[in-house]
Amino acid sequence: MTPVTFLHMLGISLWVGGVLAALVIIGATPVSQPAVVRGAAYRLLGRVYAWIVAPGAIATTASGLAITVIAASQGWGARLGEPAVVAMQGVGLLAGILEIFVSFPMSQKLARVASVGEPDALPAVAELLRNRVAKVSGLALALVIVALYFGVAGSAHLRIG
Ligand code: HEM
Repeated sequence: MTPVTFLHMLGISLWVGGVLAALVIIGATPVSQPAVVRGAAYRLLGRVYAWIVAPGAIATTASGLAITVIAASQGWGARLGEPAVVAMQGVGLLAGILEIFVSFPMSQKLARVASVGEPDALPAVAELLRNRVAKVSGLALALVIVALYFGVAGSAHLRIG
């Protein structure tokens, strides 16, 4: 396995693990919880996205693009056109765009909102953001699993060097 493929796998691990942690945090803080607890949880959520989910999604997507460029330059073009590889790239790219440009910024906004309110009251927009982060990240996670299936199904391995 080349370093760039290792980065691809490491990114996937961080991404999946980070989103699962985020969903656990969100699931453990329903609206019935005191605002002070939810505020602390949303700030933690912001850190999980900044330190685990976003780096994982960026590493996965960037290394995937790098493998594609390296493979094409080494004459693996035909194999890159195989349906499973194309499906992994397309679904993975969509998941990466959703995570990096939609749910990550929303998680940072949620963390900011949770930092400025009174300790015993959160602005109503916090619940809206929390629900959106959960939905978009849940969708991205489902897409990552689909991409993983195609990635494994398609990996007769390019043997890039
Ligand atoms: C959620 C996102 C993704 C997942 C879960 C995923 C998963 C995988 C897996 C499991 C492999 C096989 C590695 C091996 O066994 O050596 C792989 C290889 C590869 N990935 Fe991804 N990938 C993702 C996103 C992407 C993206 C966005 C691109 C490029 C646009 C990409 C390009 C590639 C290429 C070119 C290979 C080598 C294919 C082969 O060995 O035939 N991946 N990926």
